[in-house]
Amino acid sequence: MIVTGSARLAGVIGWPVAHSRSPQLHNYWLAHHGIDGIYIPLAVAPTHLRRLLRLLPGIGFSGANVTVPHKQAALAAVDETDVLAQRIGAVNTVIVGEDGRLRGTNTDGFGFMENLRQGAPSWVPADGPAVILGAGGTARAVAVALADAGVAQIRIVNRTKRRATRLAHAIGPVARPIAWQRRAHALEAAALLVNTTVLGMSGQPALSLDLAALPVRAVVSDAVYTPLETPLLAAAAARGHVVVDGLGMLLHQARPGFEAWFGVAPEVTPALREAVLETGRVALAS
Ligand SMILES: NC(=O)c1ccc[n+]([C@@H]2O[C@H](COP(=O)([O-])OP(=O)(O)OC[C@H]3O[C@@H](n4cnc5c(N)ncnc54)[C@H](OP(=O)(O)O)[C@@H]3O)[C@@H](O)[C@H]2O)c1
Repeated sequence: MIVTGSARLAGVIGWPVAHSRSPQLHNYWLAHHGIDGIYIPLAVAPTHLRRLLRLLPGIGFSGANVTVPHKQAALAAVDETDVLAQRIGAVNTVIVGEDGRLRGTNTDGFGFMENLRQGAPSWVPADGPAVILGAGGTARAVAVALADAGVAQIRIVNRTKRRATRLAHAIGPVARPIAWQRRAHALEAAALLVNTTVLGMSGQPALSLDLAALPVRAVVSDAVYTPLETPLLAAAAARGHVVVDGLGMLLHQARPGFEAWFGVAPEVTPALREAVLETGRVALAS
């Protein structure tokens, strides 16, 4: 890794931020491409977010990723946002312009679609309805991406029905809200199932869902990537579904930011996946 006095700088802003895999993945790409640069974790409390963002141009940063709990607040804290960030209602990538202005965008939907296309290359939007479990920030990015890709029916199933209704309304006529109690029925004739709730994540309750109504040709994807094989993906794989894990979404969403900050379009490769997984194994073991 090359880090001289004129190294390019970027980082991830979160609170807490220690769990983030972004430093490992961006620093892997920096080393792989022999770029003079470094990407660091920035633990920033919500009360300091705006001040930290305003500081970035003055201390030589090319930009930053923004993660939990700052994604919505960052939308209002940057100088300009693109249409995608506005529709998703959150910023996950900030780019410092040559004029020092902060531009905010959101690459979560891009990461989701690229991961889906890589993991399930035969899936096409015309295959049929998509079911999204959850109506939080990730669900919003996934719903916008699927609607833009041309999926004709998006069923949004959420524990808090009014959040599902609000998200469906924001997406438009292709989306409709479904009560959490109806989640098993929502799978009928679906071609894609995506879990964007926290259920199934390490330390969270399991997702209770009967897959019987889901056609076997449907692709099943999980945004959760700790564990990599969630109980949902294990159950779906056992039924013969093509399954797509959440780590690829994390890796792909990082690509546009890296290219903007460091000037090279990076690739998501098996070696990158392995390097990021290895740091997770080391963290769990220590
Ligand atoms: N792979 C990636 O790159 C990537 C990127 C971003 C996030 N993620 C993962 O996606 C997940 C969601 O993140 P987020 O930022 O979207 O979170 P969020 O905005 O807080 O949304 C959480 C969602 O989980 C639901 N939920 C929470 N507890 C529940 C329970 N006990 N029963 C049913 N539903 C429950 C919430 O429902 P209510 O509305 O009823 O509260 C909401 O829909 C996390 O596991 C995160 O790690 C992955």
